[in-house]
Amino acid sequence: MSSVTLLGVGLMGASIGLALKSAGVSVTVRAYARRKETRDAALANGIADEVFADPAEAVRGADLVVACVPVRAIPALIEAAKPGLGKEAVVTDVGSTKAWLANEVRTVLAGTGVHFVGSHPMCGSEKTGHEAARPDLYRDAVCIVCSDPATRASAWRITRFWTRLGARVVEMDAQKHDELAAATSHTPHLAATALVCATKGDPEALRDLIGPGFRDTTRVAAGSPEVWRDIVESNAPAILKGLRTLQKEVKKLADDLEDEKFDAVQKRLALGAERRQTLCACKPKPQNSGVRVVAIDGPSASGKSTVAKGVARALGALYVDSGAMYRGMTWKVLRAGGDPENEDQVREIMREAKWSFETVDGAVRFQIDGEDPGEEIRGEAVRDKVSYVARIPEVRTFIVDRIRGMRGMGSLVVEGRDIGSVVFPETRWKFYLDADPAERARRRNAELLATESDSSEASVLANLTKRDHLDSTRKTAPLQIAPGAKVIDTTHLTLEEVVEEILGMVAQP
Ligand code: DC
Repeated sequence: MSSVTLLGVGLMGASIGLALKSAGVSVTVRAYARRKETRDAALANGIADEVFADPAEAVRGADLVVACVPVRAIPALIEAAKPGLGKEAVVTDVGSTKAWLANEVRTVLAGTGVHFVGSHPMCGSEKTGHEAARPDLYRDAVCIVCSDPATRASAWRITRFWTRLGARVVEMDAQKHDELAAATSHTPHLAATALVCATKGDPEALRDLIGPGFRDTTRVAAGSPEVWRDIVESNAPAILKGLRTLQKEVKKLADDLEDEKFDAVQKRLALGAERRQTLCACKPKPQNSGVRVVAIDGPSASGKSTVAKGVARALGALYVDSGAMYRGMTWKVLRAGGDPENEDQVREIMREAKWSFETVDGAVRFQIDGEDPGEEIRGEAVRDKVSYVARIPEVRTFIVDRIRGMRGMGSLVVEGRDIGSVVFPETRWKFYLDADPAERARRRNAELLATESDSSEASVLANLTKRDHLDSTRKTAPLQIAPGAKVIDTTHLTLEEVVEEILGMVAQP
């Protein structure tokens, strides 16, 4: 994703702009706003990099277009933007109703090849406008994403987008979404409106009796009438059903009261209290819910690091370089004056060493005895000996345990040799990257030439071949294709292509 266009920068749109910036996503944010003051404010407040008064101009070159205006204004806005939409674009929105909108937008986009995949981030505020925008609005919010068989291929891009902003994506059919949202959001909104309207009489006289209960029950009634009219109009049958059910509930309470059936009223109150408890109780999060682990294994220089970093960045996950930990252990042994080929010495040095972990720029970094080994782990001394250290079972157990513990830090993309087979065999996302040895030697030599002028493809190939042999013939956790892993031969692929392929699979429900 290199360019995102926000069509509209009210609370929701402006919060996307701020969230992209604060998450450090390197993307150009372009924004369309009708009013000049809004466009100026979007630039001044860091919501967008470029602003436009013409929607078609705003979407030119965008990979992702997010319509952030009231639901019923979206089809006309996309119609106006259509001349600027490129074939590569995917369009989404932030509206509260989905089926009507998907139908309308599908008609508008017919023949363009551009997909619409609706989104409903379950967050917001009764406040409106870019002034109320917050970079953390979407963090930890649930975002419903509604694709259909025709647009499913594009849904992963939308899923990735929301995940990067910190939301948890739930995929759902648009019709189903609208029925559920009518019951949990749209009908309650109108009920809150009705409650407020039902307070007849002089507001001055009532004000002293307005307590937290009234405020909690009616908070949403302060929302934008324009936005809510659109929601009601675009989901009318489901909301009507909800209101009719509510009418029956209210009628029953009123009838019981009239007939002085207070026990029946109490029963209803008890039922309501119990059901509220069930609906609103914080669901105990299943352990590691939403935490994804992507395992990327393969031989040296198969492109794992670049690919794993790209995948981690796109998913907002932490990048873990397990090879660096084996190198770190080797570095420590050498630093302590030990011989990496002497297993007893390695074990002893390992027992004394204290490791600590922290996250730096989206990656897990470590220190050993308070020292960051930095680039020394890439040097020749470590490179020559690391395979000896990595074959010692106690070293492997130590490192495997540390990597497993990192799950507590969030979603991970871990690269190595045994991640899919030993460290995280249960993960659904396992990849094995491979490439021709000659191509791998060419890639690694090009990297090394940046720091070592005497490096040659022939010597690199010899070192890779030796390490491949040691890594794949050792007794403990040899390099192997994990059961269920997807093998990708990267010899003739760009690393961006490999990243895209992996992301396409990781985003699948
Ligand atoms: O990926 P790399 O070249 O930085 O790995 C360094 C060494 O560590 C390599 O010889 C293989 C070994 N290793 C391993 O045995 N298991 C892992 N999960 C990662 C690396």
